[in-house]
Amino acid sequence: MSEPAREQAQDFVLVLNGPNLNLLGTREPGIYGSTTLSQIVQDLEALACTMNPPLLIEHMQSNHEGVLVDTIQTLGPSALGVIINPGALTHYSVALRDALVAVGTPTIEVHLSNIHAREEFRHHSVVAPVVLGQIAGLGPDGYRLALLHLIARSGGSHGAER
Ligand code: DQA
Repeated sequence: MSEPAREQAQDFVLVLNGPNLNLLGTREPGIYGSTTLSQIVQDLEALACTMNPPLLIEHMQSNHEGVLVDTIQTLGPSALGVIINPGALTHYSVALRDALVAVGTPTIEVHLSNIHAREEFRHHSVVAPVVLGQIAGLGPDGYRLALLHLIARSGGSHGAER
């Protein structure tokens, strides 16, 4: 988010991506597709811009659990909502789950792949019980649908597309 945008205190949605999602585009394309993370974020920014008033996207990807926890703590409380793909942390990070609970901001968990149709260790999400819902298996559309839902449930303050 740029400094002038922050000064205007525009509403924003926090988009978080965990370990290895920086490799999207080249990482196991048969599972995760060929869309890069920056294309996903650009698509979300373009959609957020069409809202009236426009919404901002604050995106952070990290391979480090603590960095994600820090970001949830610092930016989560003022975000309209959180969209998180925790990557492998989905399956074991109690710290991430606790941070989401502590902050309490409406959150949607997104997975590009259908984790329930993959290896058994991916079927369980420690995050799922504390979020609004989980979208899995719809590729990059999952992020877009999550954003539209967060906007819709924000009470219509950003609901109308320009
Ligand atoms: C993932 C699924 C996880 O099991 C995996 O560890 C990832 C990506 C997904 O988007 O499908 O890194 O979260």
